[in-house]
Amino acid sequence: ELRGVVALDGPSGTGKSTVARKLAAALSASYLDTGAMYRAVTLAVLRAEVSVADEAAVAEVAASALPVMGTNPLLPTVTLAGEDIGQEIRGAAVTGAVSAVSAVARVRELLVDEQRRLIREALGEPGGVVVEGRDIGTVVAREAELKVYLTASSQARARRRSDQDSAAGRVSDLESTHADVQRRDAFDSGRAVSPLRMADDAVELDTTELDVAGVLEQLRTLVDARG
Ligand code: C5P
Repeated sequence: ELRGVVALDGPSGTGKSTVARKLAAALSASYLDTGAMYRAVTLAVLRAEVSVADEAAVAEVAASALPVMGTNPLLPTVTLAGEDIGQEIRGAAVTGAVSAVSAVARVRELLVDEQRRLIREALGEPGGVVVEGRDIGTVVAREAELKVYLTASSQARARRRSDQDSAAGRVSDLESTHADVQRRDAFDSGRAVSPLRMADDAVELDTTELDVAGVLEQLRTLVDARG
């Protein structure tokens, strides 16, 4: 039923990744996690031991380390030169540095080009594509047939992040997670290139009081209304 692009944007901890994957699976659509691409480049930057403040060096690493994305929502994969980095990009080191790397204009240019290529490729198959990120509705896919901007209180978002970390066996502390959520929000919204903001034609969906099933139901309703 879905033919085009669904853009899911919003800050971290809104449940975006979980619902984006489930929505894509339900629609037999492809799934693209653009945050994972910024995380992959960040991992490459950290491994190259380049300072995140050295924009030229960061851009050079990005140009030579484009991640390969698997877009099956049931098994999304991220690989760098053949290595599966799906776990490592969720760790604290990458999470701490990703905002700085994703603020580099040249990094964004490279990744937005690659995202558009992947979206075109996905649109060549039936089922459309669900794309999640921060700037999908405003930059990457301005022509998306449905744009949803997910929000939630910063407390709710920190709690979800912390639960996710615990479930994945990572050390988690609610207070520092809340601080990290707020720090990344401020950074992502305040950066000069493609700051995080809601597209004029996006639908805002506040997930503070909703569980995954509740968010999914709202999204299905929005998709059905467009189709
Ligand atoms: O969604 P996720 O938390 O994995 O994204 C990690 C980081 O990547 C964000 O905090 C943001 O700095 C950056 N990002 C971005 N643009 C996107 C997706 C993610 O700048 N489209």
